[in-house]
Amino acid sequence: MASSLLLAFTAGLLSTAALAAPHHRAAAASPYPEFILSKRDTSYSYNASLPNVTIYATGGTIAGAANSSAQTTGYQAGAVGIDALLAAVPELQTVANVQGVQVANVGSEAITTSILLALSQHVQAALDDPACQGVVITHGTDTLEESAFFLDLTIHAPKPVVFAGAMRPATAISADGPENLLASVTLAGHPAARGRGGLVVLNDRIASSWYTTKTNANMLDTFKAVEQGYLGTFIDIHPVFYYEAARPLGKHYFDVRGVTALPRVEVLYGHQDLDPSLATAAVAHGAQGLVLAGMGAGGWTDAGTDVLEDLVASHGTKVVVSRRTMDGYVEPTASEGMYGGGFLNPQKARILLQLGLNAGLGESELRGLFEYDGN
Ligand SMILES: *[C@@H]1O[C@H](CO)[C@@H](O)[C@H](O)[C@H]1NC(C)=O
Ligand SMILES: *[C@@H]1O[C@H](CO)[C@@H](O)[C@H](O)[C@H]1NC(C)=O
Ligand SMILES: *[C@@H]1O[C@H](CO)[C@@H](O)[C@H](O)[C@H]1NC(C)=O
Repeated sequence: MASSLLLAFTAGLLSTAALAAPHHRAAAASPYPEFILSKRDTSYSYNASLPNVTIYATGGTIAGAANSSAQTTGYQAGAVGIDALLAAVPELQTVANVQGVQVANVGSEAITTSILLALSQHVQAALDDPACQGVVITHGTDTLEESAFFLDLTIHAPKPVVFAGAMRPATAISADGPENLLASVTLAGHPAARGRGGLVVLNDRIASSWYTTKTNANMLDTFKAVEQGYLGTFIDIHPVFYYEAARPLGKHYFDVRGVTALPRVEVLYGHQDLDPSLATAAVAHGAQGLVLAGMGAGGWTDAGTDVLEDLVASHGTKVVVSRRTMDGYVEPTASEGMYGGGFLNPQKARILLQLGLNAGLGESELRGLFEYDGN
């Protein structure tokens, strides 16, 4: 056990290092071959009446290992490989023909833009195959909402893309990963999950990748969209939806096939007596965009705003104003180069700005990306 855990973890580190290298250009057939650490077809008893679902394993607590069954903090995330994960849930064979792909094995703080780009490209290619009904991505929960939002913006298919995580490591008493995985694979293969955009599954809930955020650092009941709610639930691990399929307002599609890097965007946190020069330092280090986790509905200090306006004028920096509160709406701004973030939290606004800048969007298009209210 110990040596296989060590192997899985070492492989995860190697993959991250390989992905960080900028020279991996897209090849024709298989854009990022080194992205895949291992691939395994678990459908040794292929059942033609079941859907085909591919699981992309990236690591995280769902693949975490601790020394004791009572330990739910300070454990090693991304320690257990896809094989062990699948072997732990033999019931998967009764809901889908599952293919497991290990793409990284890291805690989600180590997920990078290059991992996200490669993941999106692989998932799009999988969904383009008519023989694949849906995809599950196992992911650490800390930044799960960022990856789920990124894929929601960059995948073009009505087929389900389901993110699954866990709050307790695989070795814990009442580990939540196995059930979350089984529920996710069931959902990914279910026709009712089509056309609903990206989905997040934890704790018996089906949530929208667009709106959902992690609200609690420790508790099982952490993934929420407090204002927008859940899309559905699981009863006996069978998905039950509250509404017909709907599309979030303001949702756009960005084609990132062949893209290997995105412009840098940094998030600045607002607080009393903030240092305006952090914005200047971020731009000096290559940030093309800044997202403000502003006070209240996007408040920033006068001195800080002066510095931001200078950066917009001198460097063409783009600024999205979001808020440090968990929920709320930031109104459109009247300043060129500065946009109200609407309902997006800072970490999601950052991803949308990266994609908008990469697409070369101009002033009015960037404004349209962030400032909408459905009217
Ligand atoms: C194949 O799946 C169907 C639907 O779940 C099930 O009724 C059937 O028993 C399965 N066949 C085998 C050989 O497991
Ligand atoms: C497990 O225990 C060993 C020995 O006390 C320690 O070195 C290691 O860091 C622990 N691992 C985890 C994941 O807590
Ligand atoms: C599942 O995959 C197999 C093998 O590629 C394929 O023959 C079958 O048609 C697929 N099933 C569905 C429902 O697409």
